[in-house]
Amino acid sequence: MSRRITSLLAIAAVCVAVAPAPASAQVPKEPIDCSQVKCIALTFDDGPGKYAGTLLDTLKKNGAKATFFLEGQYVKSRPSYVKRMVAEGHELGNHSYSHPDFTKSEAGTIKSEIQKTQDAVKKAAGVEPKLLRPPYGLADLQVSDIAAEFGMPMILWTAGSQDWSSKNVKAIQKQTLAVAKPNGIILMHDWVKQTVDGMPSLIKTLKNKGYHLVTVSDVIKSQNLEPGDIYPVPEGWEK
Ligand code: NI
Repeated sequence: MSRRITSLLAIAAVCVAVAPAPASAQVPKEPIDCSQVKCIALTFDDGPGKYAGTLLDTLKKNGAKATFFLEGQYVKSRPSYVKRMVAEGHELGNHSYSHPDFTKSEAGTIKSEIQKTQDAVKKAAGVEPKLLRPPYGLADLQVSDIAAEFGMPMILWTAGSQDWSSKNVKAIQKQTLAVAKPNGIILMHDWVKQTVDGMPSLIKTLKNKGYHLVTVSDVIKSQNLEPGDIYPVPEGWEK
């Protein structure tokens, strides 16, 4: 090696040594404490939906986390999205395999609907959901007992975006902002194109209002839920 090349390499080495660390090398953030800061959990049901990939891109770009209550049949048909959800730090929940009303189902059907979805998620992403959202948010004591057998609390929502009914970007944003509250759990759907289309601007507005977009487990931490518990507790629920 000539003297000239050697000295160029030496200069290059110095440059590398003094270059500032890239943004990606920053120390990971402390876990968010939702009893101290304003948190909200966006939840997406019945997926992975058709637009899950675009939604995941938006969440990633904005450093936002979400919770996906997955339907086993779509986990089976779109496993790569499920894998991405886990890799990108989102939370997964079980929303049955084919979306029957659990309060009108036999115990055996409920158990197999839950188990098949656990198995599909495990196969797709190597993890098992720890939260159950019964289809339509409908549960009774039988469903609660079965959820307990699976070691899962049942998670409903504090408010809905009404996205499945309005299918309108502005209406979805307006409704979500109207019902947003600290430690709120918002029901949305990643099969509704308008929800996913409006997400960049909705996330920006929520952040401007001081919200941290976190997972359901982050916002329910202080509730200390046991398997079989339901949250929020629906009117008339007795156990
Ligand atoms: Ni659903």
